[in-house]
Amino acid sequence: MIIIMLGAPGAGKGTQAARIADAYHIPHISTGDIFRANIKGGTELGKKAKSYMDAGKLVPDELVCDLVADRIAQDDCKDGCILDGFPRTIPQAKSLDEAVAKMGTKVDFAVNVDVPDQVIIDRMSGRRACLKCGATYHVEYKKPKQEGICDVCGSELVLRDDDKPETVKTRLDVYHEQTQPLIDFYEKKGVLLTVDGTQPMDDVFAQIRKGLGD
Ligand code: AP5
Repeated sequence: MIIIMLGAPGAGKGTQAARIADAYHIPHISTGDIFRANIKGGTELGKKAKSYMDAGKLVPDELVCDLVADRIAQDDCKDGCILDGFPRTIPQAKSLDEAVAKMGTKVDFAVNVDVPDQVIIDRMSGRRACLKCGATYHVEYKKPKQEGICDVCGSELVLRDDDKPETVKTRLDVYHEQTQPLIDFYEKKGVLLTVDGTQPMDDVFAQIRKGLGD
């Protein structure tokens, strides 16, 4: 089963994708995490991606599409995967269609986590992220067991560079302009599942499971 996560920055895509991956035993592939790991590792890809990410803009399609096509062709994705943060533009969605068609499969569900902008702005200032393993927390809604430390790998939690309020505003503008059209794109394909992302995390997950047929 191939599932993609749609939704504004901070809507809860990563939070729900991690739960779906656990429940369905499929890999969770986050393009944002891949870029952040490359930035941390000082790779060429990381150097190219950093300026776009810090400015709240999208990394160019040509740096993302082949990377995802290669990743989903790996053996651990043979039973499917969950794509978190990809596609984000219509050209990316078309490139994904081509990649999955070559594998003899298709996108089964596009889960749209719907959250209004004002709730997003409130959430982002409270998010804390582990740049080592990609786990995310919230100072109010999802506290780590020990303040400032990742439950999963013990690393220090940080406020992401792109979670500063002025950058969040740009990311929301970019989302509305370039990514929101994908909602229509997947609705026309008959695979769109929209859930109310303002509900508590467990309730959002329950809506997703129901929509996926559980
Ligand atoms: P990426 O890492 O994908 O960021 P994003 O889409 O902006 O999404 P976020 O990770 O910020 O949020 P999320 O929806 O996963 O929310 P989360 O679960 O953490 O991308 C970063 C950058 O990389 C992009 O700006 C771009 O530059 C580049 N990039 C990545 N992919 C790209 C692509 N395909 N093409 C081009 N460029 C690309 O939740 C947010 C917070 O809210 C957390 O603190 C969480 O604990 C809390 N929370 C979650 N759900 C709830 C709830 N129901 N109630 C209360 N709190 C909640």
